[in-house]
Amino acid sequence: MNKGRAVYPGSFDPPTNGHLDLIQRGSKIFEELVVAILRNPEKTPMFSVAERREMLQELTADLSNVRIDTFDGLMVEYAKSIDAMCVLRGIRAISDYEYELQMALMNRKIEPTLETVFMMPADKYSYVSSRLVREVAQVGGPVKGLVPEAVEQKVRAKLDPAYKLEANLVEVPRRRKKKA
Ligand code: PNS
Repeated sequence: MNKGRAVYPGSFDPPTNGHLDLIQRGSKIFEELVVAILRNPEKTPMFSVAERREMLQELTADLSNVRIDTFDGLMVEYAKSIDAMCVLRGIRAISDYEYELQMALMNRKIEPTLETVFMMPADKYSYVSSRLVREVAQVGGPVKGLVPEAVEQKVRAKLDPAYKLEANLVEVPRRRKKKA
């Protein structure tokens, strides 16, 4: 088992500033941090797994010991398959604790050798969640400061195709000049 390798699993739909803060903190503690996106066929996400992977790859490009992966099925099985010793999860407030504790203990029951490490994101992100970002954005509210700028653009483009054109996020096919 690789003692320096940890997995940070989640949905990341979309990645928030809180996620990024935790990734940065985790990358300082672990030799290698694998951010693993759950492929969940039961949920209809805002962003496809490929889109989330691309966003996370962009956001962590400057962190050489962070890589992005996807998984399905049991998280502990995935962690074992990549030889990780720890699972990293964020706790923002007491309200997160109950669910996280339950999940960590269930994971320990299934795989006693895998440890869960909890870290706190910066307090300024303690109220930020992907679910709230989606909810606010879907009714036209501002998500500036809650998600990285590149994600903000993608959220707006997803909900408003006109913005996509305005922000030059799509290539408009150029008309060919007619031959004289
Ligand atoms: O970002 P999220 O949605 O809070 O992440 C939850 C996640 C993906 C970590 C959790 O749902 C998970 O590990 N799912 C994989 C299936 C599994 O192992 N379930 C047992 C958890 S006790």
